[in-house]
Amino acid sequence: MITVIGSLNMDLVLYTSYFPQVGETISSTRYLEIPGGKGANQAMSIGKLNGSVEMIGAIGNDGFGDKLIQNLSNHGIGIQGIKRCTSTTGTAFINVDDHGDNKIILVPGANYELTTQHIDEEIHLLEKSEFIILQLEVPLTTVFYAIQKAKELNKTVILNPAPACKLDANLLKNVDILTPNETELEILTDTKINTLKDIKYACHKLLAQGIKAVIVTIGAKGAVIVTMNNFISIPGYEVDAIDTTAAGDSFTGALALGLNQGYDLEAATHFANQVASITVQRKGAQISLPTLDEFHTYFK
Ligand code: RIB
Repeated sequence: MITVIGSLNMDLVLYTSYFPQVGETISSTRYLEIPGGKGANQAMSIGKLNGSVEMIGAIGNDGFGDKLIQNLSNHGIGIQGIKRCTSTTGTAFINVDDHGDNKIILVPGANYELTTQHIDEEIHLLEKSEFIILQLEVPLTTVFYAIQKAKELNKTVILNPAPACKLDANLLKNVDILTPNETELEILTDTKINTLKDIKYACHKLLAQGIKAVIVTIGAKGAVIVTMNNFISIPGYEVDAIDTTAAGDSFTGALALGLNQGYDLEAATHFANQVASITVQRKGAQISLPTLDEFHTYFK
């Protein structure tokens, strides 16, 4: 089983042909409200692929919160670890342009009410899991605490360091697998990334702090796995990307699922690349994540 600790947001998505300039007003071609949040997306990625997954997070006592947990529950994701808070449910204002690129502004709301006490109350979920996945849209103190608890319980910790920020060495030393994209890797390591050599150099800075493997997603080019002794490129898929929202989330969720099902790092990364390549061909966050049947239709 896998437990995801993280955010739940309602994504308020504005599709426009291009991103407006400073001071410019443009009209959207479409507006949608789509369940999202990096934590919930990663849980959903696993759930839709028929993995066993529980979610720990926080929502408000409002309609968006109701819709988010209903949607998770409809896909078989355990929701008993999601608490109701006084703040409103997190929202994300997302602008997607005609190239499928996005810009996101978060209103964290209830996500910032996820406390260390809540992790203690739901520790039974961590105890039952082999893998614990986290991201950075909930308070860093909670992320730090949850990772420490997961390590005490001897669980494998996967951290998707998004949205990117500098992280304390005391936190990183307890992470088994880190899944940054190139921008996140730059911010984490203060290293300009232009080439594969840069990626290797930056990843080794992280490995030196105790992380066992860094898997860097590099968009359509796939991903690279960097460990102390290996540097392995896993090629991506050239597809017609229309919306990259949740691509990284689908990757991290599928990676954890693959590993939990016994794949080695290479095979799990290959599987995660395949899943992410489907996600980018469809609009939105959780609605774009493939089910297992859909996966088998794309990859026969
Ligand atoms: O990673 C994509 C997610 O980031 C969106 O669903 C949005 O909610 C933000 O958290």
